[in-house]
Amino acid sequence: MRRYLVAGNWKLNMGPAAGRALAAEVAELLKGRTLRGDALVCPPFLTIPAVGEVADGNPLLLGSQNCADKAQGAYTGEVSVEMLKEAGVQYVIIAHSERREYQKETDDLFVRKINLILEAGLKAIFCFGEVLEERQSGRAEEVVRAQLTGVLPRLENANAYNLVLAYEPVWAIGTGETATPEIAQQMHAFTRGVVAELMGEEVAGYMRILYGGSCKPGNARELIGLPDVDGGLIGGAALKAADFVGIIDGAEASLD
Ligand code: 13P
Repeated sequence: MRRYLVAGNWKLNMGPAAGRALAAEVAELLKGRTLRGDALVCPPFLTIPAVGEVADGNPLLLGSQNCADKAQGAYTGEVSVEMLKEAGVQYVIIAHSERREYQKETDDLFVRKINLILEAGLKAIFCFGEVLEERQSGRAEEVVRAQLTGVLPRLENANAYNLVLAYEPVWAIGTGETATPEIAQQMHAFTRGVVAELMGEEVAGYMRILYGGSCKPGNARELIGLPDVDGGLIGGAALKAADFVGIIDGAEASLD
């Protein structure tokens, strides 16, 4: 019922030349295959046009890792949703834990950004998840509920088609430590329940909820095969074509 999404978040890696080469390698590995889900790459802004040039049967969708919270004007250093749209971007990642931590981004900012994304007809991937101390002190659900409640009810025209959620437990990001299938399923089911409270049962039923945090070819099938996990948001493993395609293979295998 829910189409999987495997999304590569390249973070601060891959200039235009390296990015084009990586995307071309992924496209070559996927050549001639019909995927039963969606595969997306989110390069740094500057690399987006180069990756967009890798056409020729390339099934990869194009995304970005951020956008401005203003439509246009005197905002030095910003990149707008309309500019991204013109460059072929279809998805924008918002509220990644690294931006929450390093740029001190807040719920108000996430709401403004996501509303601009949806208004432009693009899709937002909204990230959330607890840090280690919050999990260890038994507050993971409480934190996730607050992160969802602070943003979802304030979105205009959000639905299960233009909004994707990504549960990324911060303790699993870049650490090699993956959430156990039990934890992932439990947190995803909890998230879907909160979405049902905030946006209704029907939206919750169709909403795609991705898992992120040390996802790799070896664990992708099991994680993405869980009842409430609808794909992955991939960091490190998205930087190697074989690993990224291995995760897409895992997502495909989870449907068999
Ligand atoms: P890793 O896959 O490197 O753990 O990163 C996950 C992530 O932050 C994706 O957004």
